[in-house]
Amino acid sequence: LRIAVLVSGNGSNLQVLIDAMQAGALPIEIIGIISNREDAYAITRAQQASIPVAVLSHTASGKRMGIKTFETHASAQLAAWQPDLIVLAGFMRVLSAAFIDSAPAPMINLHPALLPAYKGLDTHQRAIQAGERHHGCSIHVVTAELDAGQVLTQALLNIKTKDTADSLQTRVQVLEHQLLPWTILLLAKGVLPLDVNNKLSESESH
Ligand code: GRF
Repeated sequence: LRIAVLVSGNGSNLQVLIDAMQAGALPIEIIGIISNREDAYAITRAQQASIPVAVLSHTASGKRMGIKTFETHASAQLAAWQPDLIVLAGFMRVLSAAFIDSAPAPMINLHPALLPAYKGLDTHQRAIQAGERHHGCSIHVVTAELDAGQVLTQALLNIKTKDTADSLQTRVQVLEHQLLPWTILLLAKGVLPLDVNNKLSESESH
């Protein structure tokens, strides 16, 4: 499976995929990384693994890219790479419906909550405040509506009374690092369906 990964930050999930690829533990080739931030540590991780990186944060004239410009460049880059799967791993910009609909491969996103609960930001804090007993992470198909595409897989933990947003984030990340490679393995093996138009997953949702 040829994979392109979109990142904005630390890239610990990217690192898990790089490690699995290098160990031969996953049938994937990470063909390129796109970062919308020039200071993302994920860029260093990709470079250390000799994976091509496109940093799409500023225009040639030094202006910060708007989402339209980002998407134009990202589309061209993805068209050149021709991935089988696009993975959003800690990618923190909201993409337009036009970009998502015209993506050259199915797109999945890792979200730090048990969707459909807690879409959006500050998921750990919100789950604690609401008195939830369970929390976790989800991998879902990216559709135009934020964090609303079909959920493919989830990993769950129990919230402890002493948990804070920080401790939950740490514990959820441990789950993410297992859920992401596992989900990609299921996609690569065809256990979970992959459809170029992102449509199969949607039509199968219930
Ligand atoms: C993850 O917790 C993910 O759920 C959230 O951003 C974080 C990315 O972490 N959307 P990393 O960049 O992979 O370390």
